[in-house]
Amino acid sequence: MNVLRRASRVLVSAAAIGATVLVLNPATASADSHGSAVRSGVAADYKWFTWDDLSVGDCHQTGGHLQLYSDGKLTFNATTWTTRTLSGDIWHSRFKLNNGSGQTLYTTGTYDSPTMWPSKHHTYTVQGTFEPSVYHAIARVVQHSEC
Ligand SMILES: *[C@@H]1O[C@H](CO)[C@@H](O)[C@H](O)[C@H]1NC(C)=O
Ligand SMILES: *[C@@H]1O[C@H](CO)[C@@H](O)[C@H](O)[C@H]1NC(C)=O
Repeated sequence: MNVLRRASRVLVSAAAIGATVLVLNPATASADSHGSAVRSGVAADYKWFTWDDLSVGDCHQTGGHLQLYSDGKLTFNATTWTTRTLSGDIWHSRFKLNNGSGQTLYTTGTYDSPTMWPSKHHTYTVQGTFEPSVYHAIARVVQHSEC
């Protein structure tokens, strides 16, 4: 989210609930969301997880596709765009790798999309790593997003 928009949202909150909002860190007002992968599968040496369309405020993601390799490498790709920004928006994702009971085994680092401008579609590609010892137990992935 850009700084101007974050600032204006804090001002709206201030008008609604009074001066106590002034102690809020503006970062706490930033939009975020999390989405569980809706489809997944297993291949010879990797597991894959995909997402339907995700939105965080004015930011949108479609076609999210994560591959986790048994040696601890990961790749992620998606198409992202924003419908409104003055200073450019960046989609930030991190992935919680969970077992079949929903216990988080590992949380990846946070990855950034290219800086997005209105009405352009951007290719968001990530190459990262995770702890390979958890590979076999991973059954679900939740993508946590901020923009
Ligand atoms: C992401 O990569 C997969 C295979 O690696 C491909 O099938 C898919 O089309 C790609 N998606 C996007 C949005 O680039
Ligand atoms: C998930 O991890 C927890 C904590 O280690 C464990 O108690 C539980 O049995 C695991 N569930 C599965 C389905 O592996």
